[in-house]
Amino acid sequence: MERPGHPGRRAGDERGGAALGRAARLYVLTGIPGSGKSTYARQQLGGCVRVSLDDLRKMMSGLDYHAEYEPMVIAAGKAVLTSLLAQANQMGFDVVLDATNVTRRWRAEAIALARRFGVEPRSVFVDVPYEVAARRNAERGRVVPEEVLRRFHRQLEPPSLDEGFVEVIRVG
Ligand SMILES: Nc1ncnc2c1ncn2[C@@H]1O[C@H](COP(=O)(O)OP(=O)(O)OP(=O)(O)O)[C@@H](O)[C@H]1O
Ligand SMILES: [Mg+2]
Repeated sequence: MERPGHPGRRAGDERGGAALGRAARLYVLTGIPGSGKSTYARQQLGGCVRVSLDDLRKMMSGLDYHAEYEPMVIAAGKAVLTSLLAQANQMGFDVVLDATNVTRRWRAEAIALARRFGVEPRSVFVDVPYEVAARRNAERGRVVPEEVLRRFHRQLEPPSLDEGFVEVIRVG
């Protein structure tokens, strides 16, 4: 995979013009909690601008999760994603959407938004067995309840090209 673009790498380009030399990309992560999405984003997509719903949750409520804040978290996530995608080509950066995105319905919104702004949607499917995600989840600082993990696992619809992705990258 070609290295993702980042505005910080445009040293010397003071006009702020299209610096990527190609269409900007939106990497849509998919994976159940604990699968390794944020780790992958940090390690492999470190050059992208990252939109994390978990970080918004923490910012908005001060907690890892608070049910009453969910509608606001989703609204803020959409607003941030929209404004970034609107500028990604002109400013020259790629974006990664770090959220579970386990259903086609969730992904469809992100794909449509990317297309609207001429950004290429690419899927990264963090495809690890349930037991692996459950173990990673149990061993980290922020532990998602097992029942939530099971629910996401049940809902999981593996991403496919027919949803409109340019590419589906499967990692595990
Ligand atoms: N490839 C890997 N090998 C071993 N451990 C990993 C790997 N990827 C992630 N981990 C570990 O697994 C745990 C969960 O990873 P991470 O937080 O990236 O998951 P996530 O998919 O972002 O979860 P969530 O949806 O809850 O945010 C972390 O402790 C991380 O260090
Ligand atoms: Mg994460």
